[in-house]
Amino acid sequence: MYREYLQKMIGFDKWHLNSLNERFYALPTINRINEILQKENPAGTVIEVGCGLGDIISAIHRRERMGYDIDKRAVRGARILHPLTRFRTGSFDAVRDKKIAVLIALNFLHRIDDKECSQYFRDLLCYNEVDRIVVDAVQSPPYQYAHDYEKLLGDLGYTLEYKSRGYAAYRHSIRKILYFRKSWDV
Ligand SMILES: C[S@@+](CC[C@H](N)C(=O)[O-])C[C@H]1O[C@@H](n2cnc3c(N)ncnc32)[C@H](O)[C@@H]1O
Repeated sequence: MYREYLQKMIGFDKWHLNSLNERFYALPTINRINEILQKENPAGTVIEVGCGLGDIISAIHRRERMGYDIDKRAVRGARILHPLTRFRTGSFDAVRDKKIAVLIALNFLHRIDDKECSQYFRDLLCYNEVDRIVVDAVQSPPYQYAHDYEKLLGDLGYTLEYKSRGYAAYRHSIRKILYFRKSWDV
């Protein structure tokens, strides 16, 4: 109810009215990242790029957590809904000089072509130190682009650590969540 009121006031995309339960990948991903943080306590900030209203990043158990989104209306809503999380307007290229324990990018890279997606990660890794990367793999069609993250992130020195089961996604397709970790020998 409160979100619907905020949506009318701020005008962010109505997609954000979906609850975490309706995003089938969201709660298992949050739980797995929280388990990693609890077990290994890696140093650094947890960052979500494309965070929308910040529901995923704000459920991560780490004081140093930040969400980035290119839509300033989503960022405005996120700041109201989650005052204990820091939010910035921008994308991968706005993330600079950070030590990052986990970088999360879910449910938007399927709109970005291979070249731009690869450049986003190159820039990110050029300007920041990133231990883990969590992305979603979808099918094309129905999504516009399906990236080969094992190749893309493998070329940048990351190894696939875990692949989730498939979660129901757009038009009877499935979405899997991929967890990558920096390979120390690269
Ligand atoms: C479908 S929502 C997903 C939100 C959240 N990641 C989740 O899974 O619940 C996609 C979000 O990505 C944002 N977005 C799209 N392209 C982006 C980009 N290039 N950089 C950063 N954010 C982007 C949109 O503004 C939107 O808030």
